[in-house]
This record gives sequence, C-alpha cells and structure tokens, in this order.
Amino acid sequence: MSKVKKAIIPAAGLGTRFLPATKTVPKEMLTIVDAPIIFYVVEEAVKAGIEDIVLIAGRGKHAIEDFFDTSYELEDRLAKDGKEKLLERVTKIREMANVISIRQKHALGLGHAVLSGLPIIGKEPFAVLLGDEITMGFHNEPNVTAQLVRSFEETNTSTISVMKVEEKDVSKYGIAEVEEKTTGFFKVNSLIEKPKPSETQSRWALPGRYVFDNRIMDILKEAKPTLNGEIQLTDSMKVLCQRHGLNAMTFTAQRYDAGDKLGYLQANIELGLQNPELGAELKKYILQLAQSLK
Ligand code: UTP
Repeated sequence: MSKVKKAIIPAAGLGTRFLPATKTVPKEMLTIVDAPIIFYVVEEAVKAGIEDIVLIAGRGKHAIEDFFDTSYELEDRLAKDGKEKLLERVTKIREMANVISIRQKHALGLGHAVLSGLPIIGKEPFAVLLGDEITMGFHNEPNVTAQLVRSFEETNTSTISVMKVEEKDVSKYGIAEVEEKTTGFFKVNSLIEKPKPSETQSRWALPGRYVFDNRIMDILKEAKPTLNGEIQLTDSMKVLCQRHGLNAMTFTAQRYDAGDKLGYLQANIELGLQNPELGAELKKYILQLAQSLK
C-alpha cells in the first residue's frame, strides 16, 4: 500500500477578498491569534505524517517562503523571552518536515498550482491542503488530512473531504455528487465547480483537503482553462473519478475559510477562545459585548 509522505499547499492565489492582497502581506500570512494562517495548515500536514511539504508561492509572496526559513535571531529571542511554546511549534515543524517552496509565476488556477508541485511529488501519492483554510480537530482525534491519508492507504483510492452546505452557498464551492457507502463515507460520481443550485441536487461541498493518487498529475497536464479562465482542479478530479475512482468523507473538525473576511474573524475568535493564555479573558469580553448588543 502506498504511503502518503508528500503534500502540496497552494498559496499563490491573488487573495482579492482582502486588501492589500499580495502587494505586501499575502493573505496566507495574516495572523490567527499568534501564528500565520499558513502555519496552521503546515502543522496539520506535519501531524498527518507528511514529510515533504511543497508550498506553492506566487509573485509578491516572499513573506511565506521567508517565514519557514531559519531565523536564528528570532529563535534566540523567543528562547530568551521565555516564549518556549511558540519556539517549540516552529522548531517542531522544521525537525519533522522539509518545507520546499515552488513558484507559480502566474495564478492560473488551483489545478495549475497543484501541477506546479510535480518536480517534488514525482510519482508518489500526495495530499493537497489549501493554504487559506484552517481545520481544527478536537480531543486529539486525527485531523482531516490524517483521516484522508488513512482512507487512501486502506482503499488505494484518492479520497477528498466533503461538508454539507446550504443551497445558497453551493455556488461558492466545488460540489461533489456522491453515493453514501457507509456513514460519512461516499463514492464520488461526479463533480462540478461553483454550480448554480439548480445545476446540481448535491449539497456536498469541497472544503480544501484532498489525498490523490499520482495519476491526477497526468490528467492535470492535459487540463485546459475553464471557469474564470482558470485551470480548475475540480475538472481534473472529475476525470480522475471517471477513470480511476474517487472517495469522499465527512469530518467532525471545525473548518474556517480564513481567506474570507467572516471566516477570518470567526477563526480568530474561536481559536482565541481555545488559547490557554487568552481564552478566559476573551470569553469575558465576548459575554460583555453580547450584553451590549442585545
Ligand atoms: P482561492 O479560491 O481562495 O483563490 O484559492 P484566491 O485567488 O487566492 O483568493 P480570492 O478568492 O481572490 O480571495 C484557494 C487557495 O489556492 C491558492 C490560493 O492562494 C489559496 O490559498 N491558489 C489559487 C493558488 O495557489 N494558485 C492559484 O492559481 C489559485
């Protein structure tokens, strides 16, 4: 059974939902509580047993690449200031995984970003974690990527995560048309990128965590731009599903679209509440604020 040891984290998009977009601060570098969004994503991959992480960075996104470089000055300072917890998080990633960065010169779409990782992925299966989505599990249960990796290793079939959305939100996501096999585990029959609710009966959306059989790379090499003139990963997943099969599974973790204004604020509030240093005070503040909002 193939083992999944590599992951691609696309983070080269333009990020037009925030200003100043990529000009100075890429959205993946915006901080949630005490770490950049991209750090949470890399942490998830490392906890899922991934050893080689390919960051797809774009023009104007040096900050992402620089963040994962060693910074002796910063590490020394964190140690001196007694900020061991933060230091531990940074060094753990460096010890457990190689973070490699590849440049996607033009943001030609998510499919193109994934294909840009080919020189490092080679012939192996791999995970994809979108660089602006955070998922956070509870009570030490395996994270979303770890669950997908396990499914891939058990079934030898590509597996993606899905979540139920409301009808009004269908047009914001890639949507999977599925057949439930066991509770929370599905066979995918087809996929459609950002459909109108009338174009599909399905309400199962793709939140940005995938594990792929390497054959998706051959399909991506042939892919042409479609929706918004971009090479859509969803189109190639549809071909993969028809030719080689594709499974999907739900998850219990919280998921935040941190590349979106509301999702970004929610992630800060909810992860702030879980933070041992801040949680109690933030809760007090939110309760007081809620009173004044009544
Ligand atoms: P999004 O769908 O959030 O697109 O991409 P975007 O272009 O970054 O952002 P908005 O919608 O304009 O705000 C999901 C993830 O895929 C990456 C993005 O950086 C983001 O982390 N991506 C997208 C790429 O790496 N390359 C692309 O060509 C497109």
